Amino acid sequence: MQKHNISFELSEVESIAALAPDERNLMQKAIAAREGAYAPYSNFHVGAAVLMENGAIVIGSNQENASYPSGLCAERVAIFHAGALYPGETITAIAITASAKAYTVDRPAAPCGNCRQSISEYETKQKAPIRILFMGAVGPVFIAEAMADLLPLAFNSTFLK
Ligand code: THU
Repeated sequence: MQKHNISFELSEVESIAALAPDERNLMQKAIAAREGAYAPYSNFHVGAAVLMENGAIVIGSNQENASYPSGLCAERVAIFHAGALYPGETITAIAITASAKAYTVDRPAAPCGNCRQSISEYETKQKAPIRILFMGAVGPVFIAEAMADLLPLAFNSTFLK
């Protein structure tokens, strides 16, 4: 039997202050986007900001629904918003931040599986990696170089022939 050892490098900086100016700005946009979260059921507010190669920044926040599965995560609101506004443009990075009403989210909140799959679609489409920066409300920021790192062995369009 053959064993595959799949690993990737995750970078960590101690806080948003330690990010390079462009990425600090992107995370600040994600923090501001959190204010637009509609999360009356979970009281968990997520903001995301997508950076395009042309310099544009497109935001999203989680939008919940009384019919719970009809709601959508911040990352997918942002990435679909970006795809709709700039269909041919390469996506460079996405910054994600989460806060909660009742407690302090002090560790990076990683994108959920559905969001990983959705972001991965755009990596396949554009044939270029998307940097993923994620944090809680305070504390460290984790940085992955590509969604392919956070979603190894992804299902994608190359299987549909
Ligand atoms: N949520 C996100 O917006 N992004 C994630 O990656 C994880 C979860 C939202 C969905 C829901 O509105 C709330 O957080 C609690 O799950």
